Amino acid sequence: MATVRFDKATRQYPGNDKPSVDQLDLDIADGEFLVLVGPSGCGKSTSLRMLAGLEEVNSGRIFIDDTDVTDLSPKDRDVAMVFQNYALYPHMTVADNMGFALKIAGVDKAEIRRRVEEAAKILDLTEYLERKPKALSGGQRQRVAMGRAIVREPKVFLMDEPLSNLDAKLRVQTRTQIASLQRRLGITTVYVTHDQVEAMTMGDRVAVLKDGILQQCDTPRRMYDHPDNVFVAGFIGSPAMNLFDAKVVDGGVQFGSAVYPVDRSVLEGAGEVVTLGVRPEDMEISSGQGLPVEIDVVEELGADAYVYGHVQGTQPTEKPIIARVDGRTPPQKGEVVTFVPKGDHVHLFSLETGGRLGD
Ligand SMILES: Nc1ncnc2c1ncn2[C@@H]1O[C@H](COP(=O)(O)OP(=O)(O)O)[C@@H](O)[C@H]1O
Ligand SMILES: [Mg+2]
Repeated sequence: MATVRFDKATRQYPGNDKPSVDQLDLDIADGEFLVLVGPSGCGKSTSLRMLAGLEEVNSGRIFIDDTDVTDLSPKDRDVAMVFQNYALYPHMTVADNMGFALKIAGVDKAEIRRRVEEAAKILDLTEYLERKPKALSGGQRQRVAMGRAIVREPKVFLMDEPLSNLDAKLRVQTRTQIASLQRRLGITTVYVTHDQVEAMTMGDRVAVLKDGILQQCDTPRRMYDHPDNVFVAGFIGSPAMNLFDAKVVDGGVQFGSAVYPVDRSVLEGAGEVVTLGVRPEDMEISSGQGLPVEIDVVEELGADAYVYGHVQGTQPTEKPIIARVDGRTPPQKGEVVTFVPKGDHVHLFSLETGGRLGD
């Protein structure tokens, strides 16, 4: 059982002109499943490797429980890492792969066997213990890699894109298994992925990184409903949030021919134009004023349909506008439909800083 704390942890690789992870502050609770997510190159692996002790920390500190581990070697941190490529030893059996770290640590044979068999049972690997990795499917290899971490009974699990080598269907199954296994074992876990759906479905909380800088750390619900900036707004959610430049006018902001009412205090100092965000499910068809959208594609999903279009009078090649509509009566390709934002599900951001405006 352990908490983890990054305290302004920074990593700048030699020869680079800026840090790959810049003053990362994160507090991870005991037993929590925290997902680090962001586009490729944003510093996810570097953050995880700093926690594992595989990467030097140039400034700031890292704590596991109340122990400052910043300068401890990896083996003294009591963490176990699952890598993207699994890094299994090809010449060893599954059982030997799973028990290897314990053997190195000098744990006696009977105890190793006991822990390996227990982990194998949890992971449904019992019948494969004497096989070599090459005689296993991708999903089974992934579970062996998990097993190797579990047998160590570490304080913290670290996982770096552990599902990226699996096909789409297996990835969905396995993410459910990993999440439920983690909850059962109750071991604090830091999980890295570039896939926001994976992040949102697995994490107790999600931390979004961009260019080495933490953008927001929140529960999936809060992240979805209340993105702190325009980057998080566009990154979390699929299909993505519609983001428009909207002119500030008397009483609110312009949305096509309609004015979306916004409190004056919210827009104070925001300039003449703000970014207005509306999720596809919050776009409502209106018979009155609003944003006229010419429909380019209708994607029928049964209960719902997604319509993709462009603002009337602009080029269809411009950023598409996406709306989720009733699947039984979707508008047709070529039709012009007027949209307004539903209720108060509108997000406003400063055009200049990208920061969220108002609540
Ligand atoms: N050993 C290294 N030397 C120099 N730059 C590196 C090294 N490892 C990673 N980087 C750079 O640091 C940034 C973050 O990398 P990384 O943490 O691997 O990102 P992610 O895991 O989010 O894709 C990238 O710009 C990458 O090129
Ligand atoms: Mg990485």
